[in-house]
Amino acid sequence: MKKHFLVTAGPTHEPLDPVRYLTNRSSGKMGYALAGAAAHEGHRVTLISGPCNLDVPDGVDYLPVETAAEMYHAVSRYIGKAQVAIFAAAVADYRPVNVPEQKIKKTGDTLTLELVKNPDILGSAREVFGFKGTLVGFAAETENVISNARGKLQRKGCDFVVANDVSRKDIGFDSSENEVTLVYAEHEVTLPKEDKYQLSLDIIEKALEV
Ligand code: PMT
Repeated sequence: MKKHFLVTAGPTHEPLDPVRYLTNRSSGKMGYALAGAAAHEGHRVTLISGPCNLDVPDGVDYLPVETAAEMYHAVSRYIGKAQVAIFAAAVADYRPVNVPEQKIKKTGDTLTLELVKNPDILGSAREVFGFKGTLVGFAAETENVISNARGKLQRKGCDFVVANDVSRKDIGFDSSENEVTLVYAEHEVTLPKEDKYQLSLDIIEKALEV
């Protein structure tokens, strides 16, 4: 049966001033591959994406956002229409407290930034947005990959979490391939290293089995 997928992808940009922002190394390839693969399989797809230099896959409803707050609002608005939600975006956990209207001047030898926590979008899916469908999170880890992913699974109410080791150069951020372990409440399934599109087909199949 065809379903409606919501996919988050890419990094967020958290402005520091009118010309600078905080971000991370996500290219969006993983999330765009998921969106493209789901659309290719005939599912309806809403792709909510931070800034990426990628072509939007054919047949996808595309909602560009810049910041974590914008992504939060877009997800809160559209998740109710979806039966499957996959959160592949690398959302900034913190943003600057104050964003001056003018460019920050180079005054001292050091500059201290004060940051405040961003909303946890995946963590809001069940408790705040009331999402009842299949919920798939990602876990970008550099150590204790499986146990950290299992913590996220439990805290965020996911059906499974796609854990990847982002300390490796050959997979994860900006690579065309990834190697992941799907972490469920009671077991794990490790998928072989493969192209992000092929891997997306496997993740979608597993999401449809839940
Ligand atoms: O974009 P690519 O270059 O292809 O790289 C792919 C990837 C490494 C970004 C992807 O495979 C991946 O791991 N995405 C999750 C990145 C991440 O931020 O993970 P996290 O462990 O910090 O977050 C856990 C989960 O909560 C993720 O599903 C994330 O989307 C979500 N989250 C996190 C923080 C936040 N404020 N809101 C969220 O929704």
